[in-house]
Parts: sequence; C-alpha cells; structure tokens
Amino acid sequence: MIERPRRNRRSSSIRALVREHRVTADDLIVPLFLAEGEGQPVELTSLTGNYIWTKGTILGEIESCLSLGLRTFILFPKVDASHKDKTASYGCDPANFYLRSATEIKSKFPEATLISDVAMDPYSVDGHDGLVADGSILNDETLDILADMSIAQAEAGFDILGPSDMMDGRVGFIREALDDAGYSDTGIMSYTAKYASAFYGPFRDALDSAPVDDPTIPSDKSTYQMDPANVREAIREADLDTAEGADYLMVKPALHYLDVIQTLRRHSELPIAAYHVSGECAMLAAAIKHGYLDRDKAIAETLLSIKRAGADAIISYFAKAYVMQPE
Ligand code: PBG
Repeated sequence: MIERPRRNRRSSSIRALVREHRVTADDLIVPLFLAEGEGQPVELTSLTGNYIWTKGTILGEIESCLSLGLRTFILFPKVDASHKDKTASYGCDPANFYLRSATEIKSKFPEATLISDVAMDPYSVDGHDGLVADGSILNDETLDILADMSIAQAEAGFDILGPSDMMDGRVGFIREALDDAGYSDTGIMSYTAKYASAFYGPFRDALDSAPVDDPTIPSDKSTYQMDPANVREAIREADLDTAEGADYLMVKPALHYLDVIQTLRRHSELPIAAYHVSGECAMLAAAIKHGYLDRDKAIAETLLSIKRAGADAIISYFAKAYVMQPE
C-alpha cells in the first residue's frame, strides 16, 4: 500500500497539523435574553446554562463572556404584555429597557459587539413579525415600522442590526433609513434564509412571542418565512440581500440546513452566519441531561459541523459552554 491515510492520524500533534476546521471564541455569537425589571436571572429549563437576564444582571454575564474571549452578543427582549400593541410601538420607545440596556452595555464594555433583533413579534399583540390586517401580514406597511425600530437601535448603540422578519425589501429599506439618519457605519446581519421551522419553540416560549391563538390571523409564519423544502430560493434571497446592502447573510436554523449554509458559502462572497436555534440546542441539551451523549464532545462536534459547512459566525446557546471546555 502506497497510500495510508492513517499516517496523518497517528498522534494528537499530527492530527492538529492537518486539521481543516476549528471553532474558536472568535467564531461564536452569544444569544442573550433580556427582560424588563431588576429581578434575578431565570434559567431556561430547555436550555441549561441560558437565562433571561435583567438590565443589571446582564452586565455581569457580558463581562464573564468577554473574559472567555466571547466578544459578540445578540440580544432579544422579553416584553411585558402591557407594552404590546398592533404596531409594536414599544420597539422605538426611548424608555424601552432593551434599547436602554444596549446603551448601558456599550458604555461599560465598548469592546463588546452588540447585534439587535429587528422584527415586530416581541412587541406585537398578534405575535407576528409584521403588521397584521384583515387576516394577513402586510409587507410594505411593516417596512416603515422596521426602519423606525432600526434607527432607534442604531441610536441606542447596537453595532449590527439583525432583521429577522423576512419582509421583502427590508434590508434596502433599513439601509437607506440608517444612512439618511447618519448611521452608515451600523451593519446589517440579514436573516437571509430564515425558514418557517418547528425548531423555534423554546425561544418563543421563553419570550412569549409566538403568534397568538386567534382564528382570524395566521397561526404560523409560513407566508413570510421560507419553506423548509427550498434551497434555490435561499440563493434568490441572498442575491436580493446582497444587492440591498447586507453585510452578512444568515441561515437559520443551522443544523437542519447545513446544505443551505454550504450553498450560500459557495455562492456569495459575504460572511455567512448560522443560527443554531433554540430547538436544535434543546434537543442536544435534553440528550445530554439524560446521559445519552457526552456533553463536551457532542457540543464541539455540533459546532464544528456548522463551521465545516461554511459558516463564518455561529450563534449558539452553547457558545459559553464550548469555550469553557477544557482543551
Ligand atoms: C423573532 C425571532 C425568532 C428567533 C429569532 N428571532 C422566532 C421566530 O421567528 O418566531 C428564533 C431563535 C431561536 O429559536 O433560537 N423574529
């Protein structure tokens, strides 16, 4: 035998030498949930090690992540029902705890990069990402609301905005609004290929952001989020987002859509982000809890698979658990 691939696997140092992909803290984005008030953080039973933080307590968590080399955070608000309305007006309210908290985090930790969530669902009585009228989700009327929300977030200090709503034309609309308001350095990480997935369940439970149970409005998001069966359509969305000025393209979920990550990686020159979503992480967390899987190895292999598929940046509820692993 002339060819013996095992020669390159003989020792730990040889394996390290020929290793093609690595996941480091620089690749990871930490998702953080934030609620109003001053209470203590509440742990999510489906996502061990993840909490709903409050304005004061989130600072300690950010400091702890920074000390581990995790420097980028994506923040999601849990909004009290009393603040919700049809037009998601609290999303632009200067008193909004989410906006205030971002300002406080950036003034304390200017080295942290903060990514926002641009969508109506946390603030909407309907629980949809767009404006609901006559039983449907309006596209163009939603764009104005998203643009106002974006300007409020840029003003609050978010470095990168994350439109997660899947309305047509929103990246270009938001880009223009930001530029007109003087925020040309604020980036856009577009949820380019966001699928109408069953794997957002734990997130919606944690944040009370699911579409409301009302027979007169759509019970799911399939008229704006993508059909899980489609991949060519992801390329179409990627081309539109690129033309509209997106700085990053995101695929969401990640693990069940590794082929989409790879397709966009090959198609586009833009950085690709992948969102390892709540349901995907919860499946793993449950198996680990039962002792069916080795925690550290399962987490590392999962994140590596997303990187190998072509993601430059990975949003995962296991980001901190991964970087805390012994070498
Ligand atoms: C809201 C939003 C969702 C997620 C991120 N932003 C939920 C949804 O679209 O219904 C899901 C993230 C996760 O499951 O971890 N627009």
